[in-house]
Amino acid sequence: MKIAIFGLGYVGLTAAACLTKEGHSVLGIDTSESKVRQIMAGICPIVEPGLEDLLLDALAQGRLACFTDVADRLDDCDMAIVCVGTPSGPDGSHNMGFIAEVSRHIASALAPARERPFTAVYRSTIRPGTTDELIRPIFASLLGEDMPNVHIVYNPEFLRESVSIKDYFSPPKVVIGTADGQPNAHMQEINRNIDSKVFFTRYREAEITKFVDNTFHALKVSFANEIGRLSMELGISPQIVHEIFVSDTKLNISPYYFRPGGAFGGSCLPKDVRAFQHISSTLGANTPLIDSLIRSNEAHKRYLFDRCVKGLAPGARVLMVGLAFKTASDDLRESPNVDLARYLIQGGYELHVYDPSLDPAKLMGQNLGYAYSRLPTLGQILRPLEVVQASHYDLAIDANGTADLLDLQAGRTVDIHTLR
Ligand SMILES: NC(=O)c1ccc[n+]([C@@H]2O[C@H](COP(=O)([O-])OP(=O)(O)OC[C@H]3O[C@@H](n4cnc5c(N)ncnc54)[C@H](O)[C@@H]3O)[C@@H](O)[C@H]2O)c1
Repeated sequence: MKIAIFGLGYVGLTAAACLTKEGHSVLGIDTSESKVRQIMAGICPIVEPGLEDLLLDALAQGRLACFTDVADRLDDCDMAIVCVGTPSGPDGSHNMGFIAEVSRHIASALAPARERPFTAVYRSTIRPGTTDELIRPIFASLLGEDMPNVHIVYNPEFLRESVSIKDYFSPPKVVIGTADGQPNAHMQEINRNIDSKVFFTRYREAEITKFVDNTFHALKVSFANEIGRLSMELGISPQIVHEIFVSDTKLNISPYYFRPGGAFGGSCLPKDVRAFQHISSTLGANTPLIDSLIRSNEAHKRYLFDRCVKGLAPGARVLMVGLAFKTASDDLRESPNVDLARYLIQGGYELHVYDPSLDPAKLMGQNLGYAYSRLPTLGQILRPLEVVQASHYDLAIDANGTADLLDLQAGRTVDIHTLR
C-alpha cells in the first residue's frame, strides 16, 4: 500500500520505517524542515536503536520520501497515519491543535468524489470523544456527511522508546477503534504479520485505552515506590518485598481484584489498609497514594448509591440481592453492601434484601455486632426467596452477581457487581 504518515517523531518515524520494511511505500510529512532534511539524508533525527538502518534501507529501495507538506500527494495513497504530538496544555488537557490542523490537511487533500477506499488512522493519544467530536466533523465539513469511501480509525500506539521497533512488530495488543466497532480492511493489511491479540471497538473504548494503560503504569511505579519508601523506613529490604510480591501471579499480578464493580470491603482490606496508613503516618512517611485508598473506596460507594437511585422517588420498593461482602459468605463486616443498604433506608426507600448465605439467627461475635450497629432492622429487611420472587420491585440491585439466577419482577435492574 501507499501510506502517508503525518508527524515523524518517535511514533511516526518508527511506523514509517517498519511499514517500509513490510514492503509498503511511505510518504512522510512533518512540519519540521530540519527533520525532513535529515531523514532524506539518511540521518535518523532521534536516538532509537535500529531505526537508522531501517531508514537507510527504505531510502535505498525508494520506499520512503518525506516532505514538509502534503500538497496534492495524498490522492494515490490508501491510508494516512497521524502521529503528530498532543502535548500538555497549561490546564493539563492535551493540546489538540496539531490533530485539528492535520485533519484539515488530510480532508482538504482528498478528492470529494474519491472512489478508492481511504483510511485515516489516528495513533496520537487523544481524549475519548475526539474522533466523534473533532476529527469526524472536520472531515464531514470538507467532504460531506456521507464520505462512503473515507474511513476513520483510532489505533492507539503502545510502543516504548528504545525498543520501539521490537514493540512495533510485537505489541502487547492491537486496538482498532472504528465507527461501528467492525474491522477495517486497510488495518488488517498493515497488521498482517503482527501476531498479537486484536480488539475491535468503537472509537471511545480505543481512545481511552492508552490513558488507562499509562495511568496504570504510573500507578504501579508510584505504588512500588511508596512500598519501597515504607520498607526502607521499617528497615526492610524493598528488593525482597518486591520479589515476594511479584511472584504471586494468582492474586497480585493478575486480573484478580481488577474488575470494575463493587467497592472493596470485608474483614481484612479496609482494616489493614487503615493500619498501613497509620504505620506510614507514625514513620512520618509521605504516601499519598496509599492514603487515598479509603477515600477512593468511599467515593465509589456513594457513586454506586447515586447510580442505583437515579430517577427513583423515595418510597419506591427496592430489592438488593447480596448483602455480605462477597457471594457465598455470611461475613457482613465492612461489607460495602451494608453501607448501600443503609443509604437506601436513610434515603426513604422501602428495602428488601435477599442473600442466600445469610441467616440473622446464625450471626455471631463481631459479625453480629457490626451487622446490627449498621442495620438495626436487619431481621425485617432480609426476606426469603419465596417472598422476594412473589413481590414486585421498582428497582432490583444485583450486588453479588446472582440476581440473574432468580425469577424477579423489577421495573429496573442495576448491576453494581460488574458495572454492566
Ligand atoms: N513517544 C512515545 O513513546 C509514544 C508512545 C505511544 C503514543 N505516543 C503518542 O503519539 C503522539 C506522538 O508522539 P511522539 O513522541 O512521536 O511525538 P514527537 O513530538 O516526537 O513527534 C511529533 C511530530 O509531529 C510533527 N508535527 C506537528 N504538527 C504537524 C503537522 N501539522 N503536520 C505534520 N507533522 C506535524 C512534529 O514536528 C514532530 O516531529 C503523541 O500523542 C504521544 O502521546 C507516544
